[in-house]
Amino acid sequence: MIRLGVVGTGRGKVFMNPPEHTDFKLTAVCDRCQDKLDLCKKRYDRDGTLRTFTDYDEMIHSGTVDAVILANYFNEHAPFAIKALNAGLHVMSECAAVNTLGEGVELCRAVEKSGKIYMIAENYLFTKVRLEMKRLYDEGELGQMLYGESEYCHPMDNRTTYTIAPGEYHWRNQIPATYYCTHAIGPVMYITGTMPVRANGFVGMHADQSYRGDELRGQDPVGVIVSQMDNGAVVRTMQGPVRVPSGRTCIHGTMGGAEIDRMTGNLTVWHDGSNKCGQPSIRTYNPDWPDFGELASAAGHGGGDFWTMYYFSRAIKTGEQPWLNVYRACAMSSVGILAWKSVCSGGQSFEMPDFACEEKRKKYENDNWTPFLKEGEDPAGKPPRTVSPWKPTEAAHVKAREVWESRHYWGLGFDQSVIDEFYTGKN
Ligand SMILES: NC(=O)c1ccc[n+]([C@@H]2O[C@H](COP(=O)([O-])OP(=O)(O)OC[C@H]3O[C@@H](n4cnc5c(N)ncnc54)[C@H](O)[C@@H]3O)[C@@H](O)[C@H]2O)c1
Repeated sequence: MIRLGVVGTGRGKVFMNPPEHTDFKLTAVCDRCQDKLDLCKKRYDRDGTLRTFTDYDEMIHSGTVDAVILANYFNEHAPFAIKALNAGLHVMSECAAVNTLGEGVELCRAVEKSGKIYMIAENYLFTKVRLEMKRLYDEGELGQMLYGESEYCHPMDNRTTYTIAPGEYHWRNQIPATYYCTHAIGPVMYITGTMPVRANGFVGMHADQSYRGDELRGQDPVGVIVSQMDNGAVVRTMQGPVRVPSGRTCIHGTMGGAEIDRMTGNLTVWHDGSNKCGQPSIRTYNPDWPDFGELASAAGHGGGDFWTMYYFSRAIKTGEQPWLNVYRACAMSSVGILAWKSVCSGGQSFEMPDFACEEKRKKYENDNWTPFLKEGEDPAGKPPRTVSPWKPTEAAHVKAREVWESRHYWGLGFDQSVIDEFYTGKN
């Protein structure tokens, strides 16, 4: 049995009911907000032993957990991970793993020093169609990747974004358009086994931004990243809340190609005449799960929420770092940082640190470049969070505040049912 502590009670709730075929028992939950903890205690305390903590340091030194899952703020994961590793705990971190390149260096050192398991919970790798793409790639049916495309596009109405981003300084209202990148680049890295070695970033916008109405999020509507991979291939990824929902991934290989249809989720595979794999030159199908189909089908995010828990548990039991190890976690997350550096410098390309090599990564140890502001912090001297010549309207602020107040948001607290509705698709 692995005693599990979860930090953050929004997304974090997904991890509070460990599925079968994992060895976790939820023993502790941490959130800054006591009312959220009270709700978790009511809902997840099976045998009266669940401990709750408002103080993270207290939880990791309480002797009640062997492993932690970090579902706190997007840009604050690395310091939490480092503290847990230093306390002798295994860590699974929500995306992103790091907020700066310097944090990446420090995180890798902490994992190496502790000998504990570290994993990024990048669940978009493990949808059944992407698992099938990986199988095809591993079996050689597509050859080697020449070019790839991958998208994470999650449109949302204003009211929903107000509810899941409570506060003007909430990370969802600050995040630059390239930062939420792991759902798009992660699957390409997993399917093809390649690593990004440099990245360029771009943002899409329109000069007349009146269409944005009462959007509170000030960031550019869409971020596009072009990454060069370590096998020479080029990959275009995009993320942003623009209109067409998409979880599409497409791989063009030396012997064939495969693409997910963004509407049906079906997979289409093509071959040229040289392919001797015995398959027709084109086929479209909806693949089955390789294993644990029932459990994965019942889990969120197309099954990915089962697989991340499964692989984290397995890594702890075997003592072997998972595929989603700290080096891939840092590279996957840093693609968005490099791309934002690129956006801020007119499209210049930036090199990925080699996080696995101390000699090469050392020069990034003091790279603390980040566009995230703390509440009340003066933006002067910080990189911009947006390049769009647009600021949210006063009406956007008023409407957002109305939603926050109606949902009992008092700065830290929040009515949990709103988050529940969001994750179960009812909102
Ligand atoms: N992989 C996915 O599919 C997926 C989906 C949603 C969110 N996420 C990721 O999960 C993370 C959390 O997302 P969310 O939507 O729940 O965010 P959120 O901002 O709504 O919730 C974060 C929670 O962490 C708590 N928290 C923050 N700082 C804390 C501290 N110092 N001590 C204790 N608790 C603290 C907050 O009170 C809040 O309840 C983000 O990194 C996000 O990117 C991933």
